[in-house]
Amino acid sequence: MKILFSKALFPNILGITIVLILSGWLMVQAEGNWVFTIAIILFEFLVISIIFMQFYNKYTRPLKKASKTVNEMIRGNYSARFYNGNSEEMEQLSKNINKLARNMNEITIQEQMHAEQLTSIIDNMKNGLVLIDEKGYVHLVNRGFLEMFHGNEKQYRGHLYYDVFQNEAMHDVVQKTFLYEQPVKQQFKNKRGLTKNYMEVIAAPIFNEHNMIKGAVLVIYDITELKRLEKMRKDFVANVSHELRTPITSIRGFAETLKEAQHDEKAAEEFIEIIYKESHRLQLLIEDLLELSRLEREGFQLEKEDFNVKQMIDAVLPSLEQKAEKKELNLATSISSDISIHADVEKLKQVIINLVDNAINYTPSGGDVNLKVSEDEHRVHFSVEDTGIGMEQKVIQRIFERFYRVDKDRSRNTGGTGLGLAIVKHIVEVHQGEIVVDSEVSKGTAIHVYIPKD
Ligand SMILES: Nc1ncnc2c1ncn2[C@@H]1O[C@H](COP(=O)(O)OP(=O)(O)OP(=O)(O)O)[C@@H](O)[C@H]1O
Ligand SMILES: [Mg+2]
Repeated sequence: MKILFSKALFPNILGITIVLILSGWLMVQAEGNWVFTIAIILFEFLVISIIFMQFYNKYTRPLKKASKTVNEMIRGNYSARFYNGNSEEMEQLSKNINKLARNMNEITIQEQMHAEQLTSIIDNMKNGLVLIDEKGYVHLVNRGFLEMFHGNEKQYRGHLYYDVFQNEAMHDVVQKTFLYEQPVKQQFKNKRGLTKNYMEVIAAPIFNEHNMIKGAVLVIYDITELKRLEKMRKDFVANVSHELRTPITSIRGFAETLKEAQHDEKAAEEFIEIIYKESHRLQLLIEDLLELSRLEREGFQLEKEDFNVKQMIDAVLPSLEQKAEKKELNLATSISSDISIHADVEKLKQVIINLVDNAINYTPSGGDVNLKVSEDEHRVHFSVEDTGIGMEQKVIQRIFERFYRVDKDRSRNTGGTGLGLAIVKHIVEVHQGEIVVDSEVSKGTAIHVYIPKD
């Protein structure tokens, strides 16, 4: 600016000085001629005005324009531009101002993009997020939070957290975070209408550059599914332990009795028979558990091959017929000899054995069990129907759960542990098949399994 003014002012000051000297000299020459003196003064005034006008047009006016453009930029309008080529200096100034405007525009666009990205991340995360300042006012709640707890942003933003958060656990974590200035974690139940969800909230303090607490950020997770899995795992361990304990206690008890006292041969034989049955039960239980864990293992692969379905059924039928005969049941089959499938033959045998075994177990003597196999274009349809005790509608959806038995005592008498149908369900699922159960109490049950042909 110093250079600009010195360069700009110099010719003008020089011009004015020359005019003043020249007019002074002319006035001395005029000596008392008023008309001539006034004419000189007017001429002087005219020349100086022209010089000022020229200076104004060349520098002052563009500077005003430049100042207006800068003011626009201060107001946030970075699309404002300024052009002036009147002088080298003004051209340079306009180039610099425009460059500054362009840079500011780019920075603003980038900042906007970052802010939009951050907002979209915060809003699209499934977990709830809340930002609270050091005075306890809520500054931000994301979409995830609003979905978890209902309501809209206005209900929370700008309000004190203890006025708007219904849950005591949320108050507690915020208070502890401010008190201990450390992250705090807590679990709580959240009721939404009729459903009850389990939540976990983690609150962490936010510090400023002087290490003073500025607020807290809360992240809320829905852990209902995790809790369900944890419960399933605990129930499973409890069930396995219970199922193992019963035969082991029995085996140990009879073995001890045999060891300690003298018994007649008949009683001893009876005890040994019980020990044998219980150990067999134990073996079946462990085999079923192993089979389930194999099926549930990540990366489990079926050993698929092409085979004839009738041949597969013929291989398992003799032992099932024997069992049906023992219980005086009529086991009938209806299978066409030319159905073939690409599947895991051993696993499908297991499905047939478990279903027919159930039909035999849960059908009183004199009843009927029918095993039918048919096919359509894409799937093979296996159906096992019986005229047995049947089931109520409400229990049907539970019979595929591990260890679930409608009547525990009855099942245990038949040696059942409640794993048979869980295994069936897994096998059908890994084959991408489908199971349909149709049952009526005292009338009978029909279980249909559909397996894709390839
Ligand atoms: N055909 C059926 N008729 C009536 N109830 C059945 C039938 N099939 C299954 N159920 C019911 O479903 C329950 C679960 O069957 P599942 O085969 O899984 O176990 P289980 O037969 O008790 O024992 P196992 O593990 O030895 O098969 C049974 O306990 C029984 O109550
Ligand atoms: Mg069974």
